[in-house]
Amino acid sequence: MCKKDYFSRMKLLILNGPNLNLLGKREPSIYGSETFEAYLKVLQAKYTDVELHYFQSNIEGELIDKLHEVGFSYTGVILNAAAYTHTSVGIGDAVKGIETPVIEVHISNVHAREAFRHQSFIAPNAKGIIAGFGLKSYDLAIESFL
Ligand code: DQA
Repeated sequence: MCKKDYFSRMKLLILNGPNLNLLGKREPSIYGSETFEAYLKVLQAKYTDVELHYFQSNIEGELIDKLHEVGFSYTGVILNAAAYTHTSVGIGDAVKGIETPVIEVHISNVHAREAFRHQSFIAPNAKGIIAGFGLKSYDLAIESFL
């Protein structure tokens, strides 16, 4: 069962892809100066009705394994596949193959950037896409499940 029931909190996974472990240090003019670990604490304090899990990897296969692991039991996945968004047929197929709805999230407005960032292998099978609101993009994705 993947919906919230009376006794359990809704389970959401934030799944971050490559280079997002560098948030806070990486290109702060684009991605801001806050670490994701710090922002996760803000999200967990804000959404106390949600069981909010977090996983980050720079390795494509680990992201796919995580989608398989949660994809038949969690309420939702908030996926920022980062650069793999634009390249990974494998992650796109994993999103297609699981039952849990996936929201594609980006910190920056990928459509206002280089042309290669306009392509997404996630989008055709995502429930929705949120991009360009900084770390607030994650809040908006969580809100979409409430
Ligand atoms: C990103 C946008 C991607 O194009 C880029 O490769 C990232 C981060 C974003 O959150 O804005 O690493 O997904």
